[in-house]
Amino acid sequence: MLDKKIQDAINRQLNAELYSSYLYYSMAAWFETKALGGFARWMRVQALEEATHVHKFFAYVNERGGRVELMAIDAPPSEWESPTAVFEEVYSHECKVTGLINELMDLAVAESDHASVAFFQWFVSEQVEEEATADDVLQKLKLVDKTEGGLFLLDQELDKRGFVLPADLAGVF
Ligand SMILES: [Fe+2]
Ligand SMILES: [Fe+2]
Repeated sequence: MLDKKIQDAINRQLNAELYSSYLYYSMAAWFETKALGGFARWMRVQALEEATHVHKFFAYVNERGGRVELMAIDAPPSEWESPTAVFEEVYSHECKVTGLINELMDLAVAESDHASVAFFQWFVSEQVEEEATADDVLQKLKLVDKTEGGLFLLDQELDKRGFVLPADLAGVF
């Protein structure tokens, strides 16, 4: 049975993952208005990936005999000054989420909940990747943001991103 403190913390994390998905959909919508369809696709994929994080937590709570509780999701921002400003927010948001995952891990360690420690480990590694990916796009944007040609090429590159359903979720969606 899942410890109540850990269950509550995971339910808050579910909310944070849903907010992440919401934020990235909002960014996708903004890119659509700027005729940057590749950036918009990248954000839609990112939003879907956050939904898979939601499902991982959702399934874990149920597997441990806990109860998922959903909370209100804050409205995300809808306007940014530039593509660079968008990715600055993606990067800082992912760093914030890393902090939340680390807090979850600290709690599981403090409660000696070894199953949760093992489960959260996947998210610790995932956040390393999330921060690196966001920073990679951000650094490229800083090189080209003021040049339309460079932005056009980067848009084409980001357009190649596709959604890959994680193997452990294959039977779920
Ligand atoms: Fe996430
Ligand atoms: Fe993320």
